[in-house]
Order: sequence, then C-alpha cells, then structure tokens
Amino acid sequence: MAKKPLNIGMIGYGFMGKAHTNAYATVGNFFELEYEPVLKALCARNAEKAQEFADNWGYESVETDWRALIARDDIDAVDICVPNNLHKEISIAAAEAGKMILCEKPIAMDVAEGEAMCEAVEKAGVNNMVWYNYRRVPAVTFAKNIIDSGNLGRIFHYRANFLQDWTISEDLPQGGEALWRLDADAAGSGVTGDLLAHCIDTAIWLNGGIKDVSAMTETFIKERVHQDTGEVQKVTIDDACAFLCHFDNGSLGLFESTRYARGHKALYTFEINGEHASIKWDLHDLHRLEYFDHRLEGPMRGWRSIHVSDGDHPYMGNWWVPGLNIGYEHSFVHQVADFIQGLESGTPAGPTFRDALETQKICDAVLESGASRSWQDVQKADV
Ligand SMILES: NC(=O)c1ccc[n+]([C@@H]2O[C@H](COP(=O)([O-])OP(=O)(O)OC[C@H]3O[C@@H](n4cnc5c(N)ncnc54)[C@H](O)[C@@H]3O)[C@@H](O)[C@H]2O)c1
Repeated sequence: MAKKPLNIGMIGYGFMGKAHTNAYATVGNFFELEYEPVLKALCARNAEKAQEFADNWGYESVETDWRALIARDDIDAVDICVPNNLHKEISIAAAEAGKMILCEKPIAMDVAEGEAMCEAVEKAGVNNMVWYNYRRVPAVTFAKNIIDSGNLGRIFHYRANFLQDWTISEDLPQGGEALWRLDADAAGSGVTGDLLAHCIDTAIWLNGGIKDVSAMTETFIKERVHQDTGEVQKVTIDDACAFLCHFDNGSLGLFESTRYARGHKALYTFEINGEHASIKWDLHDLHRLEYFDHRLEGPMRGWRSIHVSDGDHPYMGNWWVPGLNIGYEHSFVHQVADFIQGLESGTPAGPTFRDALETQKICDAVLESGASRSWQDVQKADV
C-alpha cells in the first residue's frame, strides 16, 4: 500500500537538524508505518549554506525565513532545531498555521513561554512533541518497562549526572553561532536547561513527578568576550548545577550537571535503587542496563549487565540480528516512529508540549532555588 506523505519543514541545520533529518530519512526503512516523512523544505538564514545542506541531505527546497516556511501549504510538520529563544515564537506561529510541531528541548526559555506554547498547540489541536530523545534509547525504555512492572518495589533513590568539560577555557567566547549555549539571552540557562533538562525528563518519566528542589548553581568564569559585540560581558548562565529533590512517590533525588568535569564529554548516567532491585545506565555504554536483584538467593547474587539488543527488547526487533548494537542517532529514529504511530492511532506520543512543561517547571524551580539558596516547591498543574 502506498504510504501517505508527511511533509517536513526543518528549521535549523546544526547538530539537531542533522540528527532529525537522518531520522526522517531512515525511519521508513526499518519501521512499518502508514506515513513516510518527506524532506520538503529546509530553513536557514544563509541561502548558500542552506542550499548546500539541502543538496547533501536531500531536501527538496530551501527557505531563508521561518515565517515563509510556516506559510507554505505543502508543509505538514514543522521541526524546530534552533536556539531556545526562538522556540516560542516559531511554535505559536506554526500552531496558528495548523502545522504539527516537533520542537527541540528545552521546550522554552521559562515556564511562562512554555505555558503560552502549550495553550497555542492545544487551541489549534495540532500534534506536538518535544525531542527528549533519551527516552527512546532501548535500554532506557527497557528500564521504564521494568519499573512499571513493579519489579523494583518501592523506590528509595534516583541519582543522575550529566557531565561535560568543554567550557573550561577562559578564552572561549560566549554567544553567537555555535556558542549560543553560553549566552543566557539565547539559551535561557546554562547546564540546567541544556543537560539537566534531559536528566529531569527521564527521571519524571521513570519515577514520577518532583515535589520540591534545593539547588546550588555556579558560574566559574564570570566574564567572557561576546562574539556578537566583541566586548567582554558578564556571563549569566549556570556553568554547573546540582540539586536535591523529593519525588511525589517519596523517593529522594540527587542530580548533578557541569561543563567543568575535566575528562567527561557527555557522561549521562542514572541509577535507581528500589526495595527489591536496582538499575543503572550510562550513555557511554548505552545498549547496556545494569540490574541487581536482591531476591536472587546465594553467592551468585550480584550485578548483571543486560545487553539490550535482543529481538524482544524495546525497538530492537526493528534493527539487525540479536546482539548487534545500535547507537545515539537511533533514539531520534525511534522518536519519529513513535510520533507517526501516534498520528496513526490517535494517541499522541510523548513527551508532548504539556509533558515537557513539567520539566520546564522543575528547571525554573532549580534555578530559583540556586539563586535564592532555599528549597523551592515545583509549580503543579491546576487540578
Ligand atoms: N535532544 C538533544 O539531545 C539535543 C542535543 C543538542 C541540542 N538540542 C537542542 O536543539 C536546539 C538546537 O541545538 P543545536 O545543537 O542543533 O544547535 P546548533 O548551534 O548546532 O544549530 C542551531 C541552528 O539554528 C540555526 N538558526 C539560528 N537562528 C535561526 C533563525 N532565526 N532561522 C533559522 N535558523 C536559525 C543556526 O544557523 C543553526 O543551523 C536547541 O534547542 C538545543 O537545546 C537538543
């Protein structure tokens, strides 16, 4: 049966523009879906570079203004892969134009922006999703299945880290192309929105909501040259952030993120300790889930390392033969597959904008706690 086209309009062609484009191009080869993503148009401000990317990656056309992309009748879904300060304006315009939206994380600069985005997509009734892709690493999805089955019993602890080391040099400028993450006006925050947001999304997906937080934030390098102005300016992002929290289920959380952990490039790890069993995961070894079960009696009791690559593991039946690894980029392929299956079934795949707003609320509470040196309640949805 001929597949229905899902015409994609991609905004931005950096790191995530590539990861998502690769996912759209690959998904139909490995997943049985009614819709086939079509790389309809790529939007970037520089026409020459946009055309070069479009030619290399297979887009049919280019636009240099995202408003023109959104105005096109032949675009079904808008994919937002630009810095965080543009997420709100583009999302609201796309929703008003009736487009589906796949937006990068964090959903917005702050909760107020995220609320406005949720209202816009819900009013327009358009499908929407935020790219918290780590949910779709098979070992992480498998962890979710284990927890949901009750296997761990009561959960006591949730521990997560996201460590990097790329901003240690004082000579690194802030702002502008490629370095927008160091500029609070473009990023909203530093490691909290960039890295901890991933840890928080995974945590609330696996272990439920967070009640309150106590955080410390630090900016180690206080001033850097801003690329746009050429002047030395104050740095206002958080270079490092650590926080404690209480989950709604009574468990305790401990989170740490920094760009100053020499030797670590992208060390995302989490560990969950339950009454009967514990699990832990490490992005550097992403196909493995470590599992300890206290119920196994005798001297053979110990940690086991499950290679999440068999046909009955999440997503893996769609790939190669059992035992062969897949990688980072496949989490995006899985997210597109789930998004399309959500269109087909009428039950949208998460995280939706509304789901991602929960993470934003926790990020805002963490930043407020760091600034005020006090415990902060996480804003809860009206019930
Ligand atoms: N899900 C993840 O794991 C993950 C990883 C990295 C980044 N992100 C998120 O993805 C988004 C983009 O990050 P990135 O790493 O791809 O950044 P990047 O700097 O690699 O790419 C950003 C792109 O946006 C383009 N851009 C900027 N302003 C624009 C405008 N007005 N119109 C059109 N294009 C414009 C730039 O030219 C560039 O192509 C951010 O929100 C970031 O937080 C998510």
